[in-house]
Amino acid sequence: MIEFVLNGQPVALDIEADTPLLWALRDGLQKTGTKFGCGQGLCGACTVLVNGSPTRSCVLPVASIAGQQVTTIEGLGGEHVVQRAWLDENVSQCGYCQPGQIMTAVGLLAQNPDPTDDDILNAMTGNICRCGTYPRIVKAIKVAAKTLQQGAGGVAIFDPAVRHGGEA
Ligand code: FES
Ligand code: FES
Repeated sequence: MIEFVLNGQPVALDIEADTPLLWALRDGLQKTGTKFGCGQGLCGACTVLVNGSPTRSCVLPVASIAGQQVTTIEGLGGEHVVQRAWLDENVSQCGYCQPGQIMTAVGLLAQNPDPTDDDILNAMTGNICRCGTYPRIVKAIKVAAKTLQQGAGGVAIFDPAVRHGGEA
């Protein structure tokens, strides 16, 4: 049994320890917002936050996140500042890569609330978009950063006090 915190709620899964987190989320917990792209840690489509940091879930054994906090696109609730900026800037095209892009952007802004263009490009470099939405992604992240600086609240994505299962 693997226990962890998913989008703020404790979950327990009876699953093989080496199952990639991506499939634990999609098949075990019906969180299908997280996408499968390459399955090799190369494209970023499967990005979730683990303890607030962008992480590729396709190459992460679910056992390694026991007791940790995982945030998926569903955990942002649709009204997160970054999601609103994405909509306002019409970022999405086919949409497939976008949950991963958004989770990486949320992780970036949690670490660096006032990123330069270079900071954004560096942070997003591992998230591939075949539709070429990159310029709009940079713009949306800058809009979200400005909104956050003006005092709009984001969604809490990591609470160091929260654990469920795993090592103490
Ligand atoms: S599906 Fe995980 S990095 Fe591509
Ligand atoms: S929007 Fe189509 S792959 Fe990124």
